[in-house]
Amino acid sequence: MTRDEQLRKTAYEEMEKHKGVVEQDPYRLHYHLMPPVGLLNDPNGFIQFKGVYHLYYQWMPFKTKHGAKFWGHYSSRDLVNWTHEDIALTPAEWYEKNGCYSGSAIEHDGKIYAYYTGNVKDEEGNRESYQCLALSEDSIHFDKKGPVVHLPEGYTAHFRDPKVWEQDGAFFMVVGAQTTELKGAVALLRSHDLIDWEYRGVLAGGGKGMLADFGYMFECPDLFKLGDQDILIFSPQGIEASGMKYQNVYQAGYVSGHFDSAAGTFEHGDFEELDRGFDFYAPQTTVDDKGRRILFAWMSVPDQNEQDHPTIEHKWLHTMTLPRELKLVNGKVIQVPLEELRNIRAGEAIEHKVVLDKESRELNGVNGKAFELEIGDLSLSEGWFDLSIGDGGRLVYSAGEQLVTLERKSYVNGVVEKRQCKVVNLNSLRVFVDTSAIEVFINEGEETFTARFYPSPNNDTVRFGASNQARFTIRKWDLNHVNLK
Ligand code: FRU
Repeated sequence: MTRDEQLRKTAYEEMEKHKGVVEQDPYRLHYHLMPPVGLLNDPNGFIQFKGVYHLYYQWMPFKTKHGAKFWGHYSSRDLVNWTHEDIALTPAEWYEKNGCYSGSAIEHDGKIYAYYTGNVKDEEGNRESYQCLALSEDSIHFDKKGPVVHLPEGYTAHFRDPKVWEQDGAFFMVVGAQTTELKGAVALLRSHDLIDWEYRGVLAGGGKGMLADFGYMFECPDLFKLGDQDILIFSPQGIEASGMKYQNVYQAGYVSGHFDSAAGTFEHGDFEELDRGFDFYAPQTTVDDKGRRILFAWMSVPDQNEQDHPTIEHKWLHTMTLPRELKLVNGKVIQVPLEELRNIRAGEAIEHKVVLDKESRELNGVNGKAFELEIGDLSLSEGWFDLSIGDGGRLVYSAGEQLVTLERKSYVNGVVEKRQCKVVNLNSLRVFVDTSAIEVFINEGEETFTARFYPSPNNDTVRFGASNQARFTIRKWDLNHVNLK
């Protein structure tokens, strides 16, 4: 048996062995993409290829910890029902022996060109990184071509997560990096044939420009056009919390501006976070045949109490966010749940017109473990309005301070913790709850909160409250169990 065959075999055995235990977890997700066993992290190689959407992902099948990652693979025709496919990449070769780390995919000449980082560590923990290429004609089987980019001068071996795209008659690659001065940076490369890559320099950060002093490492860059702007998404590490901002252990966000493909430069503004917490990292986008820019993110953050999640008892850890369409509105990137997500709805909506007067109560039929809420025409004279999901979390809008707060019962010690953001006028809310995941879209995606939370499994109530008077309309749908069939 080759090393690749051996790794596959052991991973499939691990899946079989723990299938029952994973399935019995009350916190198993109904419609989010989770690993069949082990740990899932970043979305990788997201692409629509021959009409089918493919989402590869960072996967450690053997334990609920990080390690020598595989590329797992989900595919879907409708972005709702996903099939867990055969393993795409195993860390079988010398140049990736400690992990086929994150990367991206592009279609060329009828094939998928997948770029990823080969992570290599020696006994002393010294790291090497190679940007590798693997080709596929059917999206399932990959033919590894090995390293195509070696570490350029000026960087430490923290050089990873290649994202490749085509523009202005050439191919470009951005790579997340750390300079030898220990500054976070995004490196730019260019190619005319997708094989030979020429290093073009630092595109952002690296001790210069708007991001001169912005942490020690940028991970998972992604550069694309949205409306009339070029958007560079990345996940910086080493940023201090500042008021309501940067509260997670590491951040994920973007700068917008103008990418000059000929000069290899990017003029841009300040960093904006994409999500307000608690769990959102390493987002990756693709564009589909409808011209939509679609984003998936990992619903966790590295080193953020990962080992305290209760799902570990059931041999699995972490999930993806729902897919979101990105739009540029008044210069800001907004995230809207994909249209297709309406197809997860089971049956008709339960609808209410609600007036709350200094009270807290449940609404008929509005409860559950996997459901969607659409709250509209919200009017609040003063004070606050809130909704509580079981005993797991609470979303509060405080009209006076113009603040939205998401509170959750910490899965580490049960203490209530919070994330906040400013929202001048709260008009609408869309909330997706999926056993142990919550995604909140405020004012059509102007702000989002994305978090894992753990309501007691026997408590599936939803309570609404107002300190004064609140009026709103609400529609609630149960959502189908479409996951991992
Ligand atoms: C981000 C990240 C990437 C790396 C991958 C390894 O979460 O650290 O930078 O490629 O995860 O799994």
